[in-house]
Amino acid sequence: MRKGRFNTPAAEIAQRYSESVSFDWRLYRYDIAGSTAHAAALARARIMTRAEHRKIEGGLRAIQQQIESGKFQWDRSREDVHMNIEAALTKRIGPAGAKLQTARSRNDQVALDMRLYVKDEITEVSSRLRNLRRALLNLAEKHVDVVVPGYTHLQRAQPITFSHYLLGQIEAFERDAERLRDCLVRTDVLPLGSGALAGSTIVLDRELIARQLGFSRVSQNSTDAVSDRDFVCEFLFCLAVIGLHLSRLSEDLIIWSTSEFGFLEFTDAFSTGSSLMPQKRNPDMAELTRGKTGRLYGNLMSILTMTKALPSSYNRDLQEDKKPLFDSVDTVRAALEIFAAMLPELKVNRKRMQAAASDPNLFATDLAEYLVKKGIPFRKAHEIVGSLVAECARKGIALNRVSLAELKKRSVLFDVDVADVFDIRHSLSQRRAIGAPSHENVAAQIKRWRAYLGRGD
Ligand code: ARG
Repeated sequence: MRKGRFNTPAAEIAQRYSESVSFDWRLYRYDIAGSTAHAAALARARIMTRAEHRKIEGGLRAIQQQIESGKFQWDRSREDVHMNIEAALTKRIGPAGAKLQTARSRNDQVALDMRLYVKDEITEVSSRLRNLRRALLNLAEKHVDVVVPGYTHLQRAQPITFSHYLLGQIEAFERDAERLRDCLVRTDVLPLGSGALAGSTIVLDRELIARQLGFSRVSQNSTDAVSDRDFVCEFLFCLAVIGLHLSRLSEDLIIWSTSEFGFLEFTDAFSTGSSLMPQKRNPDMAELTRGKTGRLYGNLMSILTMTKALPSSYNRDLQEDKKPLFDSVDTVRAALEIFAAMLPELKVNRKRMQAAASDPNLFATDLAEYLVKKGIPFRKAHEIVGSLVAECARKGIALNRVSLAELKKRSVLFDVDVADVFDIRHSLSQRRAIGAPSHENVAAQIKRWRAYLGRGD
């Protein structure tokens, strides 16, 4: 590439500083697919003969096999994946290889490789997200009758079922899947043919190239096409939010697995011990996932900052998009895999959940609503029950142990049916508006998710 323009080779230290092949070799498959489609277009435009085209195709296929069998020698002095493959091709098939870069620059080439890579990873991450949601759904199905306190501010609030909690997690991961589908729409655009930034005087059929490479659309402005890394930012955001959701799930599982809660236990296979304290059983998989989320945010910040205020079209800064992207992809793939494997093994302590959910204070709101149904304004009912709860705390008696006579002193509307208020089944059965945790609702949601997610392969 330097031949012609430069008299001396780049300084060794400059080569080492600027090479990217040590990490962008991962794009080889997309680079080869792009080159194969580009060669076909050049042949159609009669820039190369059919024989040359066939040679290029065969050469690229052989190089791919070499790479995949680990026999390919990556050469750092050749800067990046594109130059490595081009050089290997020319070496293998001779002068025909030197025609491949006609009407193409590494600027549109790298944009293409990145889009193909992100498209594939959207599919892969989506399928792992689906496995995770199936694992959550299986747990939800198994625990429909397990009641548990719902918490706000990490304080006992109102009764729900464990299934309702799990279905809530599925909702969040479904939004993540939806975000990925949306990100795919803007990623699925062919940049190849944009050249360095101004296309080329050699006109290729870009629509046909797009079809061959499986793109639904073709970029409409060559300068923007080599500039644009929005799809990387968006994808990193999608991955960061998956991390966010995994970190919140992790946090719940970690807290619930403490002796203080005792709701859950991680199995041996997914727990770690302490090098010092023999009794320890630590939830390291969940803790690591919570921690790794920080890196996912960092990677997103990194690409946003890198692209900020860049002059238009291609700048070498853009090479720095790869490490954060690869790191986030690897991190999220691994985290989703761990969770899908770990969740089915989770030991659920129904009794502890049940015991916690029978705390009569969880029904204080139900008690206020009992009065509302008999005609008392909610604010007034809230006050009556609030002072009752305070008095119970003072006297050290449970809210459901207050006699009817005592209750009647606070409101004549209290009656014998007040006992039902403290029955958890009764409480849940009344919570039947859309989205609330009645058993009927939970069962319907499980059915809906099952139809949507299937049972898995
Ligand atoms: N390795 C470069 C990157 O990742 C490829 C494009 C290089 N283009 C250039 N004009 N130097 O962005």
